[in-house]
Amino acid sequence: MSQETVRTVELEKAAQKIAQAKNLVTFSGAGLSAESGIATFRDKNQDALWRKFDPAKLASQEGFSENPERVIDWYNARRKTLAQAKPNPAHVALSSSGAVHITQNVDNLLESAGATDVLHLHGSLLSDHCNAGCGYSETVDLANPQALRKCPNCSNSYMRPSVVWFGEPLPDAVMQRAIEETSNADVFLVVGTSAAVYPAAGLIPIAAEHGAFVIVVNTETSGASCNIELLGKAGEILPQVF
Ligand code: OAD
Repeated sequence: MSQETVRTVELEKAAQKIAQAKNLVTFSGAGLSAESGIATFRDKNQDALWRKFDPAKLASQEGFSENPERVIDWYNARRKTLAQAKPNPAHVALSSSGAVHITQNVDNLLESAGATDVLHLHGSLLSDHCNAGCGYSETVDLANPQALRKCPNCSNSYMRPSVVWFGEPLPDAVMQRAIEETSNADVFLVVGTSAAVYPAAGLIPIAAEHGAFVIVVNTETSGASCNIELLGKAGEILPQVF
């Protein structure tokens, strides 16, 4: 069989599995939003965030203590980019499926495309909370995010984005539900992730161990083991398999 025939057969098989799925669960990473103009973190692209910036300075409690203004300004620049972004055909295809979506993305593009059940493992750029842990939180206006400011409730620390930084635990209830949904999935569709960051990436073997058929859609071979790997842009492949 030619490479093109193999690809057509695999696309058709993936489409059939998705159509027949009783419990479709999707698991996405930054590649899902790449075609919406949102930078990824660690692929070969020169714009990938962790190729240009030091995560220890921008996405850790230590980096925030060292220079809180630098951290807030960086997140606010990302928020302003997100305010202009639109869901791409990959978000639209996933959202039309009625699946449960587990995502590492901190954007709202699945929801903007109409998805209703989205589990944000790494938090969201759409909210801020008190870094001292007083429990105060606020919704953020992406187009006009506020500069560095003290918590208006307790004044003990600054407000910070409600995203998970390196060294911090994932939100417990969200992770528990993600594990439960993953364990019950009969088809687990992995989109646009390098599968390099744990515990999130550990969901892929959990799905396989519980008998799910695992499909990966990615521009390059990732670390994820799967039944079918479809190489290419999510915005081109997903509309074909849904
Ligand atoms: P990565 O940047 O590590 O991986 C993105 C993957 O998407 C790469 O394998 C790319 O090849 C692929 N990709 C790029 N464009 C694509 C496209 N148009 N269609 C399909 N695939 C495409 O991003 P994540 O795996 O999401 O954590 O990274 C995981 C976590 O690392 C992030 O949530 C973030 C980061 O540190 C936190 O901020 C806590």
